[in-house]
Amino acid sequence: MKKLYLRTFGCQMNEYDSEKIADVLRVAEGAERTERPEEADVIVFNTCSVREKAQEKVFADLGRVRHLKRAKPDLMIAVGGCVASQEGAAIVERSPFVDVVFGPQTLHRLPELLERRRSSGTPQVDIRFPLIEKFDNLPEPRADGGRALVSIMEGCSKYCSFCVVPYTRGEEVSRPFDDVMAETAKLAGQGVREVTLLGQNVNAWRGTINGAAADFAELLTFVSELSIERIRYTTSHPREFTQRLIDAHAALPKLAPHVHLPVQSGSDRVLAAMKRGYTALEYRSIIRRLRAARPDVSVSSDFIVGFPGETEADFAATLKLARELELDDSYCFIYSPRPGTPAAELPDQIAANAKSERLQRLQTQIQSQADAVSERMIGTTERVLVEGTSRRRIHELAGRTGNNRVVNFAGPTELVHRFTDVRITGRQPHSLRGQLAK
Ligand code: SAM
Ligand code: F3S
Repeated sequence: MKKLYLRTFGCQMNEYDSEKIADVLRVAEGAERTERPEEADVIVFNTCSVREKAQEKVFADLGRVRHLKRAKPDLMIAVGGCVASQEGAAIVERSPFVDVVFGPQTLHRLPELLERRRSSGTPQVDIRFPLIEKFDNLPEPRADGGRALVSIMEGCSKYCSFCVVPYTRGEEVSRPFDDVMAETAKLAGQGVREVTLLGQNVNAWRGTINGAAADFAELLTFVSELSIERIRYTTSHPREFTQRLIDAHAALPKLAPHVHLPVQSGSDRVLAAMKRGYTALEYRSIIRRLRAARPDVSVSSDFIVGFPGETEADFAATLKLARELELDDSYCFIYSPRPGTPAAELPDQIAANAKSERLQRLQTQIQSQADAVSERMIGTTERVLVEGTSRRRIHELAGRTGNNRVVNFAGPTELVHRFTDVRITGRQPHSLRGQLAK
């Protein structure tokens, strides 16, 4: 039996793609996954290029597996994901021992590319965007536990001035309604209790339902009729966060009380330079209306600090927005100039030490806001999806609350992959403690 060593970098889209890479290689080559690169027949790095640090990791990792080819000449090394998409054949030029380079939209062709590499003896590169072809060529989904990711759209057409995603993953393409429903229903039939609808901008989803044009809010209504208990989605974009979507949060109890809505900055000047397409006031208005629709909703966000030209006053506006909106645990990033993006050419790049200092201040503030949310949860009863046993205490279970916090509590292993009610009794730095509710 062949062995696959697969490493994933970056976002949930890449995690989803990695599951599919493992699926196609299991079907085509009978390959099972291994955690040890030295016993692999195929090594795949599914890469991320959204920030410089992520990008550098690929070449460091490739350097670490190169020697394995000496002992096993048949070993195949493949690079996929966004670095592959951006660098293409340059990867093979820099690292000639790489056999296959494939993009996020050509992962279903990986077996064919490996085959061609073996028969021709020359490295294969395929990083095209053949629209939605990918989904039509993937094996049936296989549930692995109580929750699953379902991709509903690919790519991004927003072209924020700092971001490589539109170039590496292509323009927005929605997956047809029937496909999304069929995949979700199949997963539900296999025991999945919670789905996360996935895409770079899920609320840009457009489709046809019963012959009529439909949007993301409508898709949610249909998905929530399936026999699953909780629905999440990520990522959504403030520009298309419509009143209809907000109303869906009031109407659909299966929607998790948690929305991840990246704001990036609290300064209108910076938002305009980022080409985000909304103002801080518009973002605030969305959150206010969302909370009116669903008072228990927790909102998390993404922030970039040190965007070119960001002044201390701009940054203060970001801190203020995060504080006033009581944003929950969020991702804070240092701006990383990405080759080929407009922002990388802007004058007035911010010094590295100023960027780190702002990151530190924002993270400290966000952490204390998140702690305050956790503190308020003590004494409440939460609906928890049990994911497995606790990492530190093996006789305990670990699950996730509606607002995406890990909670550890004592309970029988029969509860794994099921929903249960847990009373929150305390908090630790990155998790909660609880007791099974009677
Ligand atoms: N589609 C999502 C959205 O609407 O914002 C985000 C996709 S992006 C892969 C995830 C996050 O990475 C962004 O929200 C942004 O905060 C961060 N990011 C993207 N490009 C970046 C860059 N050049 N430097 C630092 N952070 C970046
Ligand atoms: Fe990137 Fe902006 Fe799209 S952050 S993924 S270009 S919405």
